[in-house]
Amino acid sequence: MGINFKALVVSKTEDVKYVREIKERSTDDLPEGDVLVKVNYSSLNYKDALSAIGSKGVTRNYPHTPGVDSSGIVEQSSSDNIKKGAEVIVHAYDLGVNTLGGFGQYIRVPAEWVIKLPQGLSQRESMIYGTAGFTAALCIYKLQQNGVTPNDGEILVTGATGGVGSTAVAMLAKIGYEVVASTGKKDQEQFLKDIGAKEVISREDSVDLSRPLLKGRWAGVVDAVGGDILTTAIHSTKQHGTVTCCGNVGGVELKTNVYPFILRGVNLLGVDSQNYPMDKRVAIWNKIADEWKLDNFELLCSEISLEQLSENIDLILEGKQKGRVLVNLWK
Ligand SMILES: NC(=O)c1ccc[n+]([C@@H]2O[C@H](COP(=O)([O-])OP(=O)(O)OC[C@H]3O[C@@H](n4cnc5c(N)ncnc54)[C@H](OP(=O)(O)O)[C@@H]3O)[C@@H](O)[C@H]2O)c1
Repeated sequence: MGINFKALVVSKTEDVKYVREIKERSTDDLPEGDVLVKVNYSSLNYKDALSAIGSKGVTRNYPHTPGVDSSGIVEQSSSDNIKKGAEVIVHAYDLGVNTLGGFGQYIRVPAEWVIKLPQGLSQRESMIYGTAGFTAALCIYKLQQNGVTPNDGEILVTGATGGVGSTAVAMLAKIGYEVVASTGKKDQEQFLKDIGAKEVISREDSVDLSRPLLKGRWAGVVDAVGGDILTTAIHSTKQHGTVTCCGNVGGVELKTNVYPFILRGVNLLGVDSQNYPMDKRVAIWNKIADEWKLDNFELLCSEISLEQLSENIDLILEGKQKGRVLVNLWK
C-alpha cells in the first residue's frame, strides 16, 4: 500500500499548454528504484523552471514533477550502502528531468544517485546550496585546479544575484578571493556587497564586443550567463587566467576568436554538474560542508512552500530571483 503525498505536477493540456497544480500522489506512482526518500527540502533552479514550462531540452514526458534537488530521510532501501533513516542528498543525474523530482514529498531513485548528508551540513543548509551552489563550488574547484589563487587578482562572477552567481560570490569571498559581481539588478548592489562582493558592475558594462583582446582584468571568471557577457569576460581575462562556463540564460553564442587563447593563454573550462562523477561529487559536497561553508546562509535564501513554487518559477524565468529559493516540502 503506497503512501499518499503532495507534489507539484506539471501537465500538458490538449492545446499544448503546461499547467502547474499541487496534487495528491502515491508512492505507487513513483518509478522503480532502490531508495525511497521522504523529501524535506528542495530548491528552485533555472532548469526546474524550464522543466515546468515544457522545455523539450529538459523534460520529454508529462505529467511530470520537476525538482533536480532534494534532501531528506531514507524511508525504504534495498541497497546495502544506504540504510533506512539515513539523512541524504539526492540531486542531478535524471532527478526532476525525466524522473519525478524533488518538488514532491517523496522520490524513488537508484542507489547510485544518493549521497549521505556530509557531516557539518543540515538537510536545510544542503538545499540552500542545492544544484546552483554545488555548481558554483565546482566552478571554484576548477579555478583552483587551474592554479588561480587569491593572490592572482580579481574574480568576475556574472549573473551575480542568481542562484549560481550569489553562492559563487559568497563562497569565493569566504575563501579569500576578491570578487567583482556583474548584475542586471541595479538595486541589489548592497545585497551583493553584503554577501562578499568587493565591487559591483552593471550588466551593460559587462559587454564590450569591440575586440578580442580587451584590457586584461580578471584572474578568473565564474560565468552563469553565457552569450555576449561570457565573450566579453574571455576577452577581459588576464594572461593565463581561467574562465569557467556553466550557464546560458544570456545566450548560447560565443563570438570570439583564437587570440585570447593563443596570445594570452586564457583557459576556458566547461562545467557540467548533472553527470559529474559520484566520487568527485562527494568530495565537492565535503568542501561545501567544511572549509567552504558559508557563515551568511540566511542572507542568501528565501524559504517557500510547495504552494508558492509556481509564482517563484515565473520569477526565475524572468531573471528576477535573488539568491536561492529554498523549498520546504512540509511547510
Ligand atoms: N552546467 C551546469 O551544470 C549548471 C548547473 C546549474 C545551473 N546551470 C545554468 O546556470 C544558469 C544560472 O542558473 P541559476 O539556477 O543560478 O539561475 P538564476 O537563479 O535565474 O540566475 C541567473 C541570473 O543570471 C542573470 N540573468 C538572467 N537573465 C539574463 C539575461 N537575459 N542576460 C544576462 N543575465 C541574465 C540574473 O542575474 P543578475 O540580475 O544579477 O544579472 C539571474 O538572476 C542557467 O543557465 C542554468 O541552466 C548550469
